[in-house]
Amino acid sequence: MTTLSSAPVAPLLARLFAEADANPPAASPAFAGITGEDHRRLMRSKTEYRDFYAALADFALPVSREVGGLLYMLSRAIRATSIVEFGTSFGLSTLHLAAALRDNGGGRLITSEFEPAKLLRARDNLTRAGLADLVEFREGDALETLATDLPETIDLVLLDGAKALYSDILDRLEDRLRPGTILIADNADHCPEYLERVGNIANGYMSMPFSDEVELSIRLG
Ligand SMILES: C[S@@+](CC[C@H](N)C(=O)[O-])C[C@H]1O[C@@H](n2cnc3c(N)ncnc32)[C@H](O)[C@@H]1O
Repeated sequence: MTTLSSAPVAPLLARLFAEADANPPAASPAFAGITGEDHRRLMRSKTEYRDFYAALADFALPVSREVGGLLYMLSRAIRATSIVEFGTSFGLSTLHLAAALRDNGGGRLITSEFEPAKLLRARDNLTRAGLADLVEFREGDALETLATDLPETIDLVLLDGAKALYSDILDRLEDRLRPGTILIADNADHCPEYLERVGNIANGYMSMPFSDEVELSIRLG
């Protein structure tokens, strides 16, 4: 048995995913009257992301169950002990990553979120899972909170905050990546700047769309 597949983590995740399914963001008044084109623009904006996510503060917006499993698998496969996450929300992805750290023998997961109420829920979820000791929660805009006090080496990065900022966040983390560091970027199609960067081997990355949800990349030596 693994930490991910046993209590308290497995039933907690089942409940949190079911709650997220029952409360999709499309139900938000914030989305009433928003066209597909508006949504696309907001997802790609480097100036409107604060208001956009504030309007979505009651929604979990989690990675899919499959991507959650992928996060656990990859973290286990490379025996990650040092993980950075951009975009905590209610902590569903964080639970997968922290479960992998536990099963890898321990480590440190830095996660970043600017909605205080979301961080409270994430902390509560990680505490209920018995995994809070592995997680450092950083409150505020990740452009600032991930700019300092990083681990010497980062084994795995999850990018799942404002899509337009993926390359800017990578700027802050890049000198801590090692050959073989894995980067998983959710819905990266909304950040062409990031895809061009990791898609060019001359920049020190190899990358591919792993599914229609995530771009999977590694740092080269
Ligand atoms: C898609 S959700 C993250 C879902 C989470 N990874 C999960 O799977 O449960 C994106 C989150 O990133 C947060 N966020 C977006 N841009 C941010 C920024 N610049 N700094 C900190 N948090 C940010 C939003 O408030 C939102 O909660």
